[in-house]
Amino acid sequence: MKKLIFPFILCFSLYLSSFFRLTIARGGEPSPNRSGFVENSSVGSLRQLLEEDHFRKLEKLARGYMSNSEVEKAIKAFVDRCSHISRIYSIGKSVLGFPLWVMEISDKPGEEEAEPAFKFIGNVHGDEPVGRELLLLLANWLCNNYMKDPLATLIIDKVHLHILPSMNPDGFSLRRRGNANNIDLNRDFPDQFFPMNDDLGTRQPETKAIISWLREIRFTASASLHGGALVANYPWDGTENKQKNYYACPDDETFRFMASLYSRSHYNMSLSKEFRGGITNGAFWYPVYGGMQDWNYIHGSCFELTLEISDNKWPAANELPTLWEFNKMSMLNLVASLVKEYMEGYFHQIVEGLCLPLLQSRE
Ligand SMILES: *[C@@H]1O[C@H](CO)[C@@H](O)[C@H](O)[C@H]1NC(C)=O
Ligand SMILES: *[C@@H]1O[C@H](CO)[C@@H](O)[C@H](O)[C@H]1NC(C)=O
Ligand SMILES: *[C@@H]1O[C@H](CO)[C@@H](O)[C@H](O)[C@H]1NC(C)=O
Ligand SMILES: [Zn+2]
Repeated sequence: MKKLIFPFILCFSLYLSSFFRLTIARGGEPSPNRSGFVENSSVGSLRQLLEEDHFRKLEKLARGYMSNSEVEKAIKAFVDRCSHISRIYSIGKSVLGFPLWVMEISDKPGEEEAEPAFKFIGNVHGDEPVGRELLLLLANWLCNNYMKDPLATLIIDKVHLHILPSMNPDGFSLRRRGNANNIDLNRDFPDQFFPMNDDLGTRQPETKAIISWLREIRFTASASLHGGALVANYPWDGTENKQKNYYACPDDETFRFMASLYSRSHYNMSLSKEFRGGITNGAFWYPVYGGMQDWNYIHGSCFELTLEISDNKWPAANELPTLWEFNKMSMLNLVASLVKEYMEGYFHQIVEGLCLPLLQSRE
């Protein structure tokens, strides 16, 4: 037990110093290499067949998932039912004109308070729909447990939590990664190293919506939810020389703490064989340019994680309740970790040994 005290205090204070001095953060997974298909025109039609087949499979999988209009209805039903602790607003529209609805959850929704703000963004990639379902379950769980569960109460009373269940409703309805213009939204942000996406005229409306959202609200931290792997990813996503290696940002320790908090609170993310402790530096995994995570950190001073929450991008709908159970404590702990009282009081109960990975050398 004694041995734990030093790392405990060390990372606790590192974490606090990074966050509270503020007074007041990739995404994706390697796409399958398809260049082989593109090069050969007689294989081109094969590709089309495969894509149609893929679409049909996704159609089948989509059974049991909420459609875009069902998500919209669920958001509205939520704020109707829980109007004492929530409000709804839209940050813009998708290419095809679908509103990008946000639920704000707080005891004083819409009011300015000296409290941290956290945002969750789901469905950045159209074919990764687990996040949008889990975010609605999260909102409802918080409402149902306000004044009953200490964590729900703490989050609602001390944080302004903003939830955008779907950043890419068009991609969802098209059953594909990109938006209606087939642009990968997690490659559409201005990049710190390469002059890409700097042309305002070509930036996608979904990306623009996120950018202006960050100008309006000062978020302390955030997370976007993806699928295709099981790992908590943190900045930097890109490296200056395009090499795949560990590329630490100035707040590396804080990010490792946050990612570990998610991973250790998860059912089995930290048991990963691929990623030590279930966390990874983005560039160490594979460099991404024009991603949302790095942009949030640089331009919004917002500590954003990219959470890959299921190996299977589109699991059968009957697995959603299990996936919620697997991610529930992670989501709650991550949001609650912005609150000083939580860090001081609950910390050791939840994540004993959490800081040990911080003391291990980097790969
Ligand atoms: C993709 O496949 C092509 C041809 O099959 C190959 O030349 C190329 O190196 C591959 N790229 C990556 C990133 O694996
Ligand atoms: C294209 O595919 C066909 C059929 O599989 C094959 O015979 C041909 O050699 C390929 N062409 C190239 C350029 O790879
Ligand atoms: C986590 O649990 C799920 C469900 O049992 C399993 O499919 C997955 O392989 C596990 N992952 C790890 C890293 O243990
Ligand atoms: Zn993704």
